[in-house]
Amino acid sequence: MPTLALPRSRILGTGHYLPSIVRTNADLAKMVDTSDEWITERTGIKERRIAPEGVVTSDMAAAAAREALAAAGLDASQIDMIIVGTVTPDVPMPATAAFVQQKIGAGHCPAFDLSAACAGFVFGLSIADQFIATGQMKHVLVVGVELLSRVTDWTDRTTCVLFGDGAGAAVLGPAGPGRDGAKPRGVLSTSISTDGSLAPALRIPGGGSVAPTSHATVDQKLNFVHMKGQDVFKSAVKNLYSASANALERAGMTTADIDWVCAHQANKRIIDQVVSRLEVPSEKVLMNIERVGNTSSASIPILLDQSLRAGKVHEGDTVLMCALGAGISWGSAIVRI
Ligand code: COA
Repeated sequence: MPTLALPRSRILGTGHYLPSIVRTNADLAKMVDTSDEWITERTGIKERRIAPEGVVTSDMAAAAAREALAAAGLDASQIDMIIVGTVTPDVPMPATAAFVQQKIGAGHCPAFDLSAACAGFVFGLSIADQFIATGQMKHVLVVGVELLSRVTDWTDRTTCVLFGDGAGAAVLGPAGPGRDGAKPRGVLSTSISTDGSLAPALRIPGGGSVAPTSHATVDQKLNFVHMKGQDVFKSAVKNLYSASANALERAGMTTADIDWVCAHQANKRIIDQVVSRLEVPSEKVLMNIERVGNTSSASIPILLDQSLRAGKVHEGDTVLMCALGAGISWGSAIVRI
């Protein structure tokens, strides 16, 4: 009996937004006991972007979304669902996605936030893919956006050198039949996981039901990101490799079939170790960490959009995405552009 393949989803357009303020390693060396040499060597980061006062998370998300819609040739009214991956929402309630819906002028489509930290975009892509593949939705907007500078302790050298602000977006829709003889485009596979036992390794301890915001929580800096860097590092190398291997297997592929790796830009050393284990040559690895730092859920869609607009990644190229962050949550996706 012939097997009935579900229709595929495809990325129809991407966009990104980076705020204009640049904070260099030299700037940070004036704020905390660090140096350009240490940051560059240990992370690969040279500078990051900081959102100016008055700019909020949904502003950046909407800017990236408008670019993605234009690239997809769609109007906001054609969007059936909005998923915003973020751990730095405009407000605790309602969802940042609701503000994005209003700012881009979308209709009354479901709009919700997804809390998977740095893995937020890959989780969102996976959810969007399911809704499109089952025919429930036609066009889904997935945004990864973070305004981490507002939850960063700028006196803590172990975290403040890492993060940056930004947004990236993708509009997904049905892949369609594709061109005769061409390999099928679209989301070929995804793999997402969470290990909650590692939750304490990366968190914002205050501001929730455990420690509601009070003078004491602010005095203790519980409203900022706290991270056990080495624990996260080890988990990242192990799990980004396994998720990528998993997604490749599900797509019936090997790393030889991959044109580009578009990994979460957390630390150049993590990416180097993961691609080395996957045996992917360095010329196939997309990278922008030097200029944008770790933008959490925005990382992959910013890098993908920059690479597409620069003409580096082309239609028909197969991209392996992988990301890991607080949760600890991680995931991978194989997408043919
Ligand atoms: N400048 C100078 N020295 C610094 C520093 C900085 N910005 N940050 C830490 N150090 C010091 C530490 O205090 C420590 O000093 P000590 O040996 O005297 O105690 C030393 O450098 C080594 O610290 P360590 O934490 O072992 O460094 P590391 O090589 O593990 O690098 C991270 C730290 C944070 C860059 C790294 O652990 C990392 O990238 N972790 C993963 C982050 C991540 O992926 N997050 C993902 C999701 S957001």
